[in-house]
Amino acid sequence: MTRRRRIYEGKAKVLFEGPEPGTLVQYFKDDATAFNNQKKGIITGKGVLNNRISEYLMSRLSEIGVPTHFVRRLNMREQLVREVEIIPIELVVRNTAAGSLSKRFGIPEGTPLPRSIIEYYYKSDELNNPMVTEEHITAFGWAAPQDLDDMVALSLRVNDYLSGLFLGIGLRLVDFKLEFGRLWENEEMRIVLADEISPDNCRLWDIKTNEKLDKDRFRQDLGKVEEAYQEVARRLGILPEG
Ligand code: C5P
Repeated sequence: MTRRRRIYEGKAKVLFEGPEPGTLVQYFKDDATAFNNQKKGIITGKGVLNNRISEYLMSRLSEIGVPTHFVRRLNMREQLVREVEIIPIELVVRNTAAGSLSKRFGIPEGTPLPRSIIEYYYKSDELNNPMVTEEHITAFGWAAPQDLDDMVALSLRVNDYLSGLFLGIGLRLVDFKLEFGRLWENEEMRIVLADEISPDNCRLWDIKTNEKLDKDRFRQDLGKVEEAYQEVARRLGILPEG
């Protein structure tokens, strides 16, 4: 691990001071948590795989013009990112019913949704990440209406692009969670995609068999968790050596 000042430690990642001002080093751990920390474990090799998978997906998104915090991968477990002010909203995009949506509304898992649904959750472990509306977000000043518009527009582009990308390798993008940050450049503020995109925060099912190739294998004790993450990396053509 880089010998740098630790800025923030999350459940699956650590952020260190970066080599230049305005940069951070994002370190990917093997730790896995679910149900707001009630279930904890280690998925051996997960950090290495998520670092590669997130690098790949963020790079492809950047190529189609989606601004992201990603700069470059540094090594097996670390990537260089731009320092952003994280907006305390988790934005979930859903294409197929699963997880908390299935539970909340009694819709069987796997039911296709009539259109993509966006949900917002307030990032707070103490409060268990409550679901919130646009009203809460703007009234409490977590994001300005224009920021939220940008986040929604970017999320829909990410959904369209990644749904196609995953379909091409036989995977259904069921749902996923995104985080955004504010980046200042020459006195101007831009909303950029932050955090990571990996099987930790996407549901990915095999198109033919509906086999789950994501963190639900850990959440639901389905076994073969690392193998599932490896399979996603293999299909993306980026399986690390060794
Ligand atoms: O649990 P739920 O069905 O609401 O999750 C929706 C999507 O958001 C899933 O892909 C899940 O992995 C992701 N998620 C996440 N971090 C959270 C909550 C959900 O990455 N704190």
